[in-house]
Amino acid sequence: MSLEISLLDSKKHIRDTFSCGEESLDDYIKRRASQELKKLISTTFVLTDSPDNIVLGYYTISAYSVDAAVLDDALAKSLPRYPLLPATLLGRLAVDLSQKGKGYSGRLLVDSMKMALDTSKRIASMALVVDAMNNDALNFYLKYEFRQFKNAPMKLYYSMSDIGKLGL
Ligand SMILES: CC(C)(COP(=O)(O)OP(=O)(O)OC[C@H]1O[C@@H](n2cnc3c(N)ncnc32)[C@H](O)[C@@H]1OP(=O)(O)O)[C@@H](O)C(=O)NCCC(=O)NCCS
Repeated sequence: MSLEISLLDSKKHIRDTFSCGEESLDDYIKRRASQELKKLISTTFVLTDSPDNIVLGYYTISAYSVDAAVLDDALAKSLPRYPLLPATLLGRLAVDLSQKGKGYSGRLLVDSMKMALDTSKRIASMALVVDAMNNDALNFYLKYEFRQFKNAPMKLYYSMSDIGKLGL
C-alpha cells in the first residue's frame, strides 16, 4: 500500500462513501467532480492508498483571475496595473473523517502548490487563491501561511513566487 495523488478517474476511484463533515464537499466528489472534469471547469485530484481505490481526500484546481483591487499593497506594488491578474484557484480541499489527523490535508495542499507552480511556468499565474467556506477553513489556510486579500478576508492567496521559494 502506498499513498498516491492522481487525476480523478470516475471508472476507478470509489467515492460513494466519502464523508469529510462538510456536505457540499461530499456531494461535490460524489456527484459533480467527474462532470466538471469532463467539461474542463475544474480538475480534481484524489488521494488514495494504492492499490486501494477508495478516495481518502481530494482537491480541485482551475484557472482563475483576481481583481487587482483586492490585492494587498505588498503584492500589488510589485505587479503591473492590470484590472485582472492571472491566478490559479484551489477551489476545494477535503479529507475523509476516517483519515483525520494523518497530515493528508498537508500532502494535498503541497501537491496543489506543486501543480500550480509547474503549470505557471507554461501558463502564467501569479498566485494560488482559495475561498475559505467558513472560519475553520480560514484558520486552516492561515495556519499554512496563506494571506488574506484586502477587504475580502475569506479569500486568501499564496503568491507563486513564494511557492517557488518553498523548494517543493
Ligand atoms: C480541514 C481538513 C482538510 C483537515 O484535514 P486533516 O488532514 O485531517 O487535518 P489534520 O487533523 O491532519 O491537520 C493537519 C494540520 O492542519 C491543522 N488544522 C486542521 N484543521 C484546522 C483548522 N480548522 N484550523 C487550523 N488548523 C487546522 C492541524 O492542526 C494540523 O496541523 P499540524 O500538522 O501542525 O498538527 C479536514 O478536516 C476537512 O476535510 N474538513 C472539511 C472540509 C474543509 O473545511 N476543507 C478546507 C477548506 S475547503
